[in-house]
Amino acid sequence: MEAYEADIKKSQLKRVLGKWSLTAIGIGAIIGGGIFVLTGTGAYYNAGPALALSFVIAGIACVFAALCYAEFASILPVEGSAYAYAYGTVGEGFAWIIGWGLILEYAMAAMTVAVSWSGYFGKLLKLFGIHLPYWLTTDPATAHKAYNEAQSIISKGSGTGSVSDFQYIIDSYNAAPEIFDFKLFINFPALAIVFTVIALLMKGTSKASKANNLIVLIKVGAILFVIIAGAFFIDPNNWTPFIPEPTTIVENGQSHEAYGVMGIIAGAAAIFFSYVGFDAVSTQAGEAINPKKDVPFAIITSLLVCTVLYILVSLVLTGMMHYTDFNPLGKYPEAIKAPVAYAFDIAGQPWAGYIITIAATIGLISVLMVMIMGQSRIFLGMSKDGLIPKVFSNVDKKSGVPRKSLVIIGVVVATFASITPINDLAHMTSFGTLFAFTMVSVAVWILRVREPNLQRNFKVPALPLVAALGIAVNVYLIFNLSREAQLYSGIWLVLGAFVYFLYSRKHSKLQKGEVNYSLADEE
Ligand code: ALA
Repeated sequence: MEAYEADIKKSQLKRVLGKWSLTAIGIGAIIGGGIFVLTGTGAYYNAGPALALSFVIAGIACVFAALCYAEFASILPVEGSAYAYAYGTVGEGFAWIIGWGLILEYAMAAMTVAVSWSGYFGKLLKLFGIHLPYWLTTDPATAHKAYNEAQSIISKGSGTGSVSDFQYIIDSYNAAPEIFDFKLFINFPALAIVFTVIALLMKGTSKASKANNLIVLIKVGAILFVIIAGAFFIDPNNWTPFIPEPTTIVENGQSHEAYGVMGIIAGAAAIFFSYVGFDAVSTQAGEAINPKKDVPFAIITSLLVCTVLYILVSLVLTGMMHYTDFNPLGKYPEAIKAPVAYAFDIAGQPWAGYIITIAATIGLISVLMVMIMGQSRIFLGMSKDGLIPKVFSNVDKKSGVPRKSLVIIGVVVATFASITPINDLAHMTSFGTLFAFTMVSVAVWILRVREPNLQRNFKVPALPLVAALGIAVNVYLIFNLSREAQLYSGIWLVLGAFVYFLYSRKHSKLQKGEVNYSLADEE
């Protein structure tokens, strides 16, 4: 039997995760910066008060996928998430493209989250009167761009901000140290947090999971705080009309269709990033004590808990502030950047902003932890199948985790997070996730048709319908992502095809006949 279960024994991952730790991994990955940041954008540019319905739609898209993930997890108790499910059912090429797409979800999310963490950390330090130098918190491309813009605005004497803001950017730029005539800019906090998380993950899953459980308690506490405290400042008039009439918003010469039913759907794509992460539970099946039962439970429970919390947060937020007040060209130009904290500021409760800053700074650490952990487990599966180099499936005996792989991932994520303007590419994370969701829905359907009698501890109810809806909603949301996200992600997938044909197929254990995988082995 050369199936996955045998491979798992060889891989020596330690089975230390129970169902609540797995659920905490799901919540740990889901609740991050998204809910604190994207709600203002979704309310102003897309859905108005009906943003809560956008959260319902995105939640439903995720539930369809979650059910499909859960069925797979109940059949194939292996790490590697959607990649492994596809490998075991539809075939290597299909699995490869999913695994390649998942890099967008996990590694790109880790980079984005490291950069957001750096932003929150800077704010936190400011609360204590500490200001980090600009050159130590900014990537080079962003610094050069801001400098050029500031110079051109000052020379033309135009712009929305005051001259002193732009002069500040120029002075900060000039204050950067020079190495060989090059000005040094680096997002050092982003780099430092990635290496801190890697150090924690290298100690083993059990220790990392304990830290994650604690962080999850803190951030769920913060979200409940926002909901309960915010409820006292709701003005129900802000909810009327709940679904504003469709309107064209014109900004900087560009027009944008907002509100109405289509606005709600576009809003679901805009806030989708806040849901990214629940599928990370499926990357941990190799460490679950009882994977066939507990992984499906944790996937669905973590998603449901977060969906309810998100709907309540969006209702409270749009009740506290009128959706038009998130207009970046309106009377509160800063509100859209930190909508939840801002709503409390306007309600005369600035201390709530401090609590949110502290919770986000701590909370984002667990998103980063789960994303990096997930990426290493997906690579573990791909490497065991021979599609990527062997070093990624080298599991350290003492800690029971793939240490070398973690270091490689850490170096790549930290480098990109510290020197590239990664925020611009954040929506590629949503592309990678929606793509994986679509493929899992396809794969679960194919497997039902091919192997109807396989033992399944969890079965998707009304399968053809749920899988078809899952595919339809997820594909629809992909088409609602930004053009850049579609273009860059498309290029990434094409690049993946080259890597597959030039490297992976030549090293594949399946192609070499070293593995003869059969699902019957799992029964
Ligand atoms: N869902 C995670 C976040 O919102 C990735 O930060």
